[in-house]
Amino acid sequence: MRIMSVVGARPQFVKLGPIARAFRSHPEIEHLIVHTGQHYDPMLSDAFFADLEIEPPTVHLGVGSGTHGRQTGAMLADLDGVLEEHAPDWVLVYGDTNSTLAAAIAAVKMHIPLAHLEAGLRSFNRRMPEEHNRVLTDHAADLLLAPTEVAVQHLVNEGLGGKARLVGDVMTDVCFSTRDAVAGDHPTLPAGVSPDAPYVVATIHRADNTDDPARLSAIADALGQVAAPVVLLAHPRLVAKAAQAGIELARGGVHVVSPLAYPQMVRTVAGAAGVITDSGGLQKEAYLLRTPCTTLRSETEWVETLVDGWNILDPALERLTEVAVRPRPTGQQAQPYGDGRAASRVAQVLLDEGRPVEVGSR
Ligand code: UD1
Repeated sequence: MRIMSVVGARPQFVKLGPIARAFRSHPEIEHLIVHTGQHYDPMLSDAFFADLEIEPPTVHLGVGSGTHGRQTGAMLADLDGVLEEHAPDWVLVYGDTNSTLAAAIAAVKMHIPLAHLEAGLRSFNRRMPEEHNRVLTDHAADLLLAPTEVAVQHLVNEGLGGKARLVGDVMTDVCFSTRDAVAGDHPTLPAGVSPDAPYVVATIHRADNTDDPARLSAIADALGQVAAPVVLLAHPRLVAKAAQAGIELARGGVHVVSPLAYPQMVRTVAGAAGVITDSGGLQKEAYLLRTPCTTLRSETEWVETLVDGWNILDPALERLTEVAVRPRPTGQQAQPYGDGRAASRVAQVLLDEGRPVEVGSR
């Protein structure tokens, strides 16, 4: 069976890691990887292939950055030829980026069976480009690989329950195996931040937080008031928007540093007293690594992280200084994100499904 994964952005490489490994253990699966080129900086792309031991992409489209329409359209145009040439039995798309949507449209237009990994997540916030991407992809796909029971319920509510399979979350697979592999390492911290005193890891990259200078300035102010050193892992979008608006991010105890490679990120978050973020993946990684998280958004797709206060939503920045560093919640954590074996379930589900006979019946 020939499965073509289409990926392009940092969080997709993290999910591809355990999937590629699981596919390698099934000789009957031929796995092709297409990299759209949405992310191209080495620390957002190549480092993940190296650290997670992912085979190099078969095809690299090299589309680069652009407006949503231009970027998605460039991928879509290029994917036609790739799908024609390689004729996969399944196209597998990941998460909710523009690369996900482009590959989903390309596959269904060519009547190639489409599987969506991380199906069924919803923020119910249509201002987020990711919400359009995931809703449209779910409704186009033939097979919906859902990470959680809540995600399955969303799919059922939208009439998609028949195509849904609960497989667990592949980010749990890679987060736990990496956590164990780097447990003996030191956190990666800038000069002046000690691993022996409380520190906070922060990331901000959502358009809603970066693109409005007043909002970005308020966030920079709030981070500067946190009562512990803040290691701000600055995504290129954040750096670009702050520079454009003339906003200084390094204020108070904030240290602005480049994004970390995945193993270093896991180790540094595991050792932190708190995480401040607007990323989806990092909210969940903080939960899995048992680090309290404060999310600068009004909603989360990962609602399970809110239980017992592991994750607190603070869109208005009203509570950040008070809650950024807080004691770990006591008590047993549930395991809403699976047991760390989701990727092998994905491989098995795809093998069991085979090639859908009547693709045109969707
Ligand atoms: C994208 C995804 C988002 C995901 C995030 C993870 C969409 C709509 N958004 O957001 O869901 O959480 O990736 O990081 O697909 N840039 C660089 N180098 C790069 C890539 C981007 O400098 O390698 C800069 C460019 O200025 C670019 C900007 O970052 O315009 C935004 O990149 P883009 O891929 O459009 O979106 P992200 O914000 O990364």
